[in-house]
Amino acid sequence: MFAKKLFVIGAGFMGTGIAQNAAVKGLDVTIYDVSETQLEKSSKTLEKELAKLVSREKMTEEEAKETQARVHYTAKMKACFDADVIIEAASENLEIKKSIIREVDKYANQNAVIASNTSSISITTLASCLDDPSRFVGMHFFSPVPKMPLMEIVRGLHTSDEVIKIATEVGEFMGKSCVLAKDEAGFIVNRMLLPMLNEACFLVERKVGTIEEIDLAMKMGLHHPMGPLELVDMIGIDVELAVMEVIYEETGDSKYRPAVLLRRMVDAGFLGRKTGAGFYNYNEDGTRTANKRIFGR
Ligand SMILES: NC(=O)c1ccc[n+]([C@@H]2O[C@H](COP(=O)([O-])OP(=O)(O)OC[C@H]3O[C@@H](n4cnc5c(N)ncnc54)[C@H](O)[C@@H]3O)[C@@H](O)[C@H]2O)c1
Repeated sequence: MFAKKLFVIGAGFMGTGIAQNAAVKGLDVTIYDVSETQLEKSSKTLEKELAKLVSREKMTEEEAKETQARVHYTAKMKACFDADVIIEAASENLEIKKSIIREVDKYANQNAVIASNTSSISITTLASCLDDPSRFVGMHFFSPVPKMPLMEIVRGLHTSDEVIKIATEVGEFMGKSCVLAKDEAGFIVNRMLLPMLNEACFLVERKVGTIEEIDLAMKMGLHHPMGPLELVDMIGIDVELAVMEVIYEETGDSKYRPAVLLRRMVDAGFLGRKTGAGFYNYNEDGTRTANKRIFGR
């Protein structure tokens, strides 16, 4: 396979998941973040996730140690110089992503494929930050990355066939089924999923059901493995809002207008599981209760 070394930008929920998945499959991974705190958190999360796999007898302790040793952490972008594939998984913000990609262009090996895990931002727009936009592609993973077997490969207007082939090869090596999507905001899955999750937020706003009732209804009524509000908490309220805003702006279609509640929750710091509070409050012992501040009567 072309890719032996991955460089992942962003040590958050997705970056850590991508690194874990790739390292379990045997790839060498370096995770970069501007925040030392996030790098430390990412390393602890990886250790905890690998320990879970050992306790479930999915891997031996030896394999967990070897996997951990394949993952490196850095706060220096220039460490991407020897990576074959660079995957940007930083915050869903156009200006942040553009400045990252411009910086990557200074240090990356000239043969490296550069990808973004963006959920909604145009791949063609991001590619325009590179001298050679043909080497840029969307590699959109789903959360939690080690468990979800899909990757959307997004072709920008300049993306070369060779780059699509390499991205697909990496995705398949990581155990994903790959689907090719056109560069349209939200691609395939989020274009359908996001209005449904947003509608669940509208139902909370209008108090049509409680947080628990809305989740239970979708799990029992449609056999969804998670309720929509649990899922938004896992995705991150800030990520959900940012993605809705991009799709709404791009399409002008009112079905993508984000629920006001999402904005209030972001302002309040209720970002979901990652901050310990979203639609639910998450306790240290693994239990959770609906967040009364959201559904106060
Ligand atoms: N959360 C999901 O379920 C999901 C699913 C698919 C794709 N995505 C996409 O993945 C990306 C990351 O989402 P996430 O949920 O991991 O977010 P997150 O908030 O958990 O992590 C974002 C990380 O980016 C880092 N960051 C911010 N600015 C940076 C910079 N200039 N350089 C390097 N790192 C920087 C932050 O410190 C943080 O660690 C987004 O583009 C999002 O749309 C998210």
